[in-house]
Amino acid sequence: MSGKDALIAAALVARTRAYAPYSNFLVGCAVESMDGQIAVGGNVENACYRLGVCAEQSALSAAQVAYGLGRIRRIAIVGGPREGKDVGAVMPCGGCRQAIAEAGSVSGTDIEVICCDSEGQNAVSMTISELLPASFTLDTPDA
Ligand code: THU
Repeated sequence: MSGKDALIAAALVARTRAYAPYSNFLVGCAVESMDGQIAVGGNVENACYRLGVCAEQSALSAAQVAYGLGRIRRIAIVGGPREGKDVGAVMPCGGCRQAIAEAGSVSGTDIEVICCDSEGQNAVSMTISELLPASFTLDTPDA
């Protein structure tokens, strides 16, 4: 299995741990470090809908704790409805793009984002600067 396939496989496992009883749209995310470590997350919803957390932000938090935002190389996202017809590759929402851009700004890396459907298929690969051009960032302190 290639590194990319292993990353997508990790996102698929994370998706099985998502908590999305309101939308029934399950998302998993796997974040790979420059030396091959993988941190994962799933979306976690809340009865107060606006408090839900996306899979990407959940995985970025895990990555920061595991090895640091400044060491992220690439990210895989998989998602789709719990049941029924797939909707193609899930693209990160605007807020998650901003969160990924923050991680990229720590290391000066144009992080690769691999977006897939709920079976890890129909991959669309883009860099964060393509997903969020002209992003707002500040000079960050040491992470
Ligand atoms: N969701 C994510 O986890 N990541 C995205 O980039 C898009 C949306 C989640 C949020 C919510 O729990 C569900 O998918 C439906 O919007």
